[in-house]
Amino acid sequence: MNSLERLADLVQRWTGIDLARGGRSDSLERLVTARMKELGLASAEVYVDSLTSAAHPEVGRLINAVTVNHSWFFRDAEQLGVIAEMLRDGRIAPSGERVDIWVPGCAAGEDVYSLAMLTRQAGRTAHVLGTDINSEVISLASRGHYGEWSARELPSELRHNLMRAADGFEVAAPLRSQVAFERHNLIDPAPNPPGTIGWHVVLCRNVLIYFTREKIHAAIESMGRALRRDGRLLLGATEILQTVPRDLRVERVGQRFVLRRANPGEPAAPEARSPPIKPPQPRPSFPEPTLPTLAAPRHVQSGIAAMISLGNSRLEAGETSEALALYAKALEMDPLNAEARFFTGVAYHISQDPSSAAQSLRGALVLDPELWPASFYLALSYDKLGRTADAKREYRRVFEAEGRALALQSRSALLADLTAFRKDVVRIARARAGK
Ligand SMILES: C[S@@+](CC[C@H](N)C(=O)[O-])C[C@H]1O[C@@H](n2cnc3c(N)ncnc32)[C@H](O)[C@@H]1O
Repeated sequence: MNSLERLADLVQRWTGIDLARGGRSDSLERLVTARMKELGLASAEVYVDSLTSAAHPEVGRLINAVTVNHSWFFRDAEQLGVIAEMLRDGRIAPSGERVDIWVPGCAAGEDVYSLAMLTRQAGRTAHVLGTDINSEVISLASRGHYGEWSARELPSELRHNLMRAADGFEVAAPLRSQVAFERHNLIDPAPNPPGTIGWHVVLCRNVLIYFTREKIHAAIESMGRALRRDGRLLLGATEILQTVPRDLRVERVGQRFVLRRANPGEPAAPEARSPPIKPPQPRPSFPEPTLPTLAAPRHVQSGIAAMISLGNSRLEAGETSEALALYAKALEMDPLNAEARFFTGVAYHISQDPSSAAQSLRGALVLDPELWPASFYLALSYDKLGRTADAKREYRRVFEAEGRALALQSRSALLADLTAFRKDVVRIARARAGK
């Protein structure tokens, strides 16, 4: 194992984050190179050897550099609607009780304030705790100051909660009194609400997509234990459980799955299978929580296509790391999925990493030699790597495939464009192949 691999391994052990999944391995490398220079160290080996425990101050710096922290207000309005519905019908926090909500992996706090707005709108008192392993985003969250772009999806009737400031918005004081922020690592024991035990709601979205499989399971168990009886755990639409912990029950609310903490003596859930794969909305025909299993490949396949489509929308929004994490999840479910490998290659190409792009695209072509867009991107990557002869060979494959149809499952504006402008793509390929 070289020193970077050793470091990635430590990060994984300390945080649960699989850097390869988030496409952050290069951030790690950049950080180590910069820190070696600043600290006057002779080698990466010395740097890694100096990190003796997770509590070492340098580890905090490292984690701040490798975590992916995008978020915005009302990022998942459907999910917030599910919480509002459960509050309205008294399934969680009967009226009169303070609503206790924990948001692990809250990034700069947008979900925390969104939930405070929602509970306030419902006339409820709330305590919303946002935690994150990244100390920089926790400082930002505590400041409560955001740019215009963060509020792009905030419903107009909730805008009054943000006050205009010099370069964006500030969260209004009444909301601030309902929230708190702390640095916390999701793989450590969970916090409790002030003066009581157990949360009504834990909302953890787009955090576990970066975790290794066994840390996902441990984190879900820990968040489940942190709920009070009948409390609800909500994950992201694409976050998949391999097994449902014994104390949790899967429940469907509208188009979403939530996990409910079981009451003592409540019959156990059916033996854990492969569970809530949330398809993109709207998908009314999605099966009830008899949960898709590997024995039901059609559902799994549609879950994979849904996940790739979500990755594609992240990619098109410029969120390459999140897209990569989603494609990695799809590949974990089906390592032979050519489409997921193709889009992984495109994401690496966009992130200016032509050698990783070429590796994924070659994999896609081994699995589906007809996938001419993969040849096109592979040719572009080879061009960047200075491998002209290889690039020409791939350009040739593109125009030789002219007329052949593509059979793809996911939605992608990028592929739609490539197909619509196929004549132009073929013309470029011919020119570059020297034909
Ligand atoms: C992509 S953001 C998601 C933000 C928000 N939940 C959302 O869906 O918009 C992922 C966040 O998880 C945090 N995170 C990653 N690993 C963590 C861990 N082990 N403990 C706590 N937070 C973690 C990252 O620092 C990052 O801010």
